[in-house]
Amino acid sequence: MYRLGVLISGRGSNFHSILKNIQSGFIKNAEIVVVVSDKSNAKGLEIAKENNIDAVFLDSQGMDRETYDKIIAEKLREYNVDYVVLAGFMRILSSYFINEFKNRIINIHPALLPSFKGLHAQRQAIEKGVKFSGATVHFVTDELDDGPIIMQSVVPVFEDDTEEELSERILKTEHKIYPLSIKLITENRIKIVNGKVVSNIKGIDDDFYIINPKGI
Ligand code: GRF
Repeated sequence: MYRLGVLISGRGSNFHSILKNIQSGFIKNAEIVVVVSDKSNAKGLEIAKENNIDAVFLDSQGMDRETYDKIIAEKLREYNVDYVVLAGFMRILSSYFINEFKNRIINIHPALLPSFKGLHAQRQAIEKGVKFSGATVHFVTDELDDGPIIMQSVVPVFEDDTEEELSERILKTEHKIYPLSIKLITENRIKIVNGKVVSNIKGIDDDFYIINPKGI
């Protein structure tokens, strides 16, 4: 059984969807052992508590990046975490942290990377006028929103979309591809070869890959 530590800053809907997929048995080989937030009022902390998962707020105030990251790493080691799952964690991680958990940190970004890195990815997509956007699950490396891509979802961008509408459409697909990525990782179906992910998707329903024009 792989032990997951989830880092959040807010709502926690991706964390919740991963949890539900563990509870339903879709993800069989993993458990969430701790949820850590850098914000005391993160809604995801409540979701963790309601589900009897340890929920920890770690205050970053007055600390430089590496000092804070050492505190998080220490907490995750305390829980013997195998994978660190970033789910709306709104901080850039230091090289120290990334090396501590090399190839064991995963992130989800609400755009088709390498397009639209950084904040407000959905707004960037609308401003650019792209016709499709989506979400990307990837391993975390030293470069922001970079690293081997595990899985992507695609949704259309409509001309009259607001940022909220596009975000909502993308989010629905995030809730599918993040659990699926974790399922594949924890069933040892994912390898990194020459900096790229090679995955064994045998037996996985096509629905996960074929995104219909309405966005789901
Ligand atoms: C998601 O859009 C995710 O792609 C981005 O931050 C948001 C987190 O949402 N990294 P939630 O907290 O999981 O609801």
